[in-house]
Amino acid sequence: MAHTDAELDRLLDEVLASVRAGDARLAEVVRAAVVHLHAFVREVRPTEQEWLAGLAFLARTGQTCTPRRDEFILLSDMLGLTSAVDEVNYAAVEGATPSSVEGPFHSPAPARENGAWVADGPERERAEPMVVHGRVTDTDGAPLAGATVDVWQADDVGHYDTQDADQPDGNLRALLTTDADGRYWFRSVLPASYPVPTDGPVGGLLTALGRHPMRPAHVHLRVEADGHRPITTHVFVAGDPYLGSDAAFAVKDALVVAPRRRTADDAAGWRLGGPFLELAFDVRLVAATVADEAAAVPAGVAR
Ligand code: BEZ
Ligand code: FE
Repeated sequence: MAHTDAELDRLLDEVLASVRAGDARLAEVVRAAVVHLHAFVREVRPTEQEWLAGLAFLARTGQTCTPRRDEFILLSDMLGLTSAVDEVNYAAVEGATPSSVEGPFHSPAPARENGAWVADGPERERAEPMVVHGRVTDTDGAPLAGATVDVWQADDVGHYDTQDADQPDGNLRALLTTDADGRYWFRSVLPASYPVPTDGPVGGLLTALGRHPMRPAHVHLRVEADGHRPITTHVFVAGDPYLGSDAAFAVKDALVVAPRRRTADDAAGWRLGGPFLELAFDVRLVAATVADEAAAVPAGVAR
C-alpha cells in the first residue's frame, strides 16, 4: 500500500529521531540529507525500478573511480555542486581574485624555475607557444614574494598528461615560486577546450540529458602565500566557444583573459624565438584575517 503523506511524515520523523551521532556536525549534516532526500522521494515518487536504477548509477560511479580518476568528483562538477560548495566556502572579497573549482586533474607538479618550459611533450613542436605570467599581490596590490603558484593545464588537443601516454609525467604542470616583485612566469602552449571524461556513467548521464561535455580552454592555478587565504582558480581563454556553456559551471567573468598575439620582435625577452601568445593573469589574495571575517558571515546575511 502506498504511503500517505501522513505516513511519509511519520517515517521521516522516525528516521530523524534515530540520528544520534556523538558528532553534532555529522548529525546535522545527516539530518539535512535525510530531510532533503525524503522531500525528493515525495516530489518525484520514483518507481522501485527507478530508485534501483539510481542506486546502480551511483554504484557504477564509485566502481569507475581509480587512483587517477574520480568519477564522483566529476558527478559533483557536472551538477554544479562543486561550484556551489566553492561559493559557500570562498566568500567573495572586494578586490580579490575569484576562486573556481579544482577539477579531477590536479596531481603533484614538479618544482620549476620561473621562465621554465612546462611543455615537454610532443605538443611543444606542434602547438602555438604561450607565455603565461602575472603578479601575486594582496588586495592592495602589494607584491607577495615567495608565494607558490601550482599550475596545470591540458595540451593543444585537450589532454592532460595523466590521460595521454605520449606526454611525460608532470607535463604541462609546474610548481613555481614568485620572485621579490611577486612575479611568476612560464613558457607553455595554448591549451584547447576539451571534453570531460565521457566513457563512464557520468558521460552517459550527460548524453541522456542532451548535454555536451566540453570545458572551455583554461589553465588551472592554485596559489598560496603566508598569511593569506589560498586560492584555487582558473584562467579561461577569451573567445572560446564553450565559455557560455562550461560543463563544470566554473566560468566567472573576472577569470576570462584574452591572450595577446605577439611577434618575433617581442620574443627574446621571453626566451622564445618566434611569434607567440601572451596570457597575463594577476592573482590578488585576501589576507587570512579578512578571509576569516568574510567566512564568518553566511551568504545572504546583511552585513
Ligand atoms: C578540469 O578542468 O580539469 C575539470 C573540471 C571539472 C570537471 C572536469 C574537468
Ligand atoms: Fe582542466
